[in-house]
Amino acid sequence: MHFSNIAVAALTAATAYAAPVEKRAAKVDELVGFAAGTTGGGSGAGTTVTSCAALTTAAKAGGVIKISGQLTGCGIIKIISNTSVLGVGANSGLTDSGFQIRKATNVIIRNLKFYRAPAGKDLVDIDESTKVWVDHNDFSSIGITGDKDKYDGLLDAKHGADSLTFSWNKFHDHWKGSLVGHSDNNAAQDTGKLKVTYHHNHFTKVNSRLPSVRFGTAHVYSSCYDGGISGVNSRMGAQVFVEANSFTNVANAIITNLDSKEEGSANESGNLLVNSTTQITKKSTYKPSYAYTVDPAASACSITSKSAGVGVVTF
Ligand SMILES: *[C@@H]1O[C@H](CO)[C@@H](O)[C@H](O)[C@H]1NC(C)=O
Ligand SMILES: *[C@@H]1O[C@H](CO)[C@@H](O)[C@H](O)[C@H]1NC(C)=O
Ligand SMILES: *[C@@H]1O[C@H](CO)[C@@H](O)[C@H](O)[C@H]1NC(C)=O
Repeated sequence: MHFSNIAVAALTAATAYAAPVEKRAAKVDELVGFAAGTTGGGSGAGTTVTSCAALTTAAKAGGVIKISGQLTGCGIIKIISNTSVLGVGANSGLTDSGFQIRKATNVIIRNLKFYRAPAGKDLVDIDESTKVWVDHNDFSSIGITGDKDKYDGLLDAKHGADSLTFSWNKFHDHWKGSLVGHSDNNAAQDTGKLKVTYHHNHFTKVNSRLPSVRFGTAHVYSSCYDGGISGVNSRMGAQVFVEANSFTNVANAIITNLDSKEEGSANESGNLLVNSTTQITKKSTYKPSYAYTVDPAASACSITSKSAGVGVVTF
C-alpha cells in the first residue's frame, strides 16, 4: 500500500513538468469501422510460439496464436480463416518475414512488431480476403534509402479484399506504406470492394501510399503524418473521407490526380496541415455510416505517438 502511494506521488510530481496527460475520446481497445464483427480465432488462450517452425505449424491450424519474442527469417507465413495472431508483451514480432492472408476471412493481427519483409514482399499482404483487423502493430524497414522497390508494402490489400480496419498502428522508415488496389486494370475484381477504415495510425518517414487507394472506399481519421511525398492518394474512382488528421511536411497530403490513368475523389474535414498541401480535383460525397469516435487533428500526433504501436494492448 505504502509503496504504491509513493509511486503515484512520484509519477504526479514527474508529470507536472512533462507533456499534458493524453486526453483521448476514442477507446484504445475497440474494433471500429469496416471490419466490425471480426472475431479471429476467438477468445481462447490459444497456442504460444517462440520459433518460426512452431509459428508455421500453428498457422496451418489457425485459432489463437501468440508470438512470444522477435522471430527472424520465418519467410512468408500464410494465415488462414478464423485466426488471431497476437504479440506477447511489448517486444514480440517478426523480422525478415511476413504474413499473407489469401482467400481467407475473419483474421486479427495485433501487437506485433514487423521489421523488414523478405525482398520484394509485403510485411502483411491481404488478397481476396474479408474481415481483417490489423491493430496496434509496428511496421518498418530500413528507411527511405536504396532501391524503393527492394521491399514492397508495409500493409497492402488487393484483389477484391474487403471489410478491413487498420487501427492504432505505427508505420515508419519505409518507401511504400499501404497500397489498396494494385493495378489500374483490376476494376472487375475491385469495384465495390476494398473498403478500409484507417484510424489512429501514426506515419513517420514513409515516402508514399498512406494509403494509396484504387477503386475502393477509405475512411481515414485521427492519424498523424510526419513526412512523405504523398499521403492519402485516391485513384481510379476511389472515394476517401479524410477527417481530423495531422499532416506535417507531407508534400501531397490528400491528392486525387496522381499516378493513375483516372482520378479518384476525396472529401476532407477538420485536418491540420503544416507545410503540407492538398489537391482534390474531384469531390467525394462518401460518409461512413458506422459509428466512430474522432479525436481532433490537433491531438492526433500526441495520442498516436503514445497509444499506437506495440506494448499498448498486450497479450
Ligand atoms: C470459420 O468459423 C466459422 C464459424 O465458426 C465457420 O462457420 C467457418 O466454417 C470457419 N471457416 C473456416 C474456413 O474454417
Ligand atoms: C516547414 O518547411 C520549412 C522549409 O522547408 C522548414 O524550415 C520548417 O522547419 C518546416 N516546418 C515544420 C513545422 O516542419
Ligand atoms: C464533405 O464533408 C463535410 C464535413 O462532413 C460536409 O459538410 C460536406 O457536405 C462534404 N462534402 C460533400 C461533397 O459531400
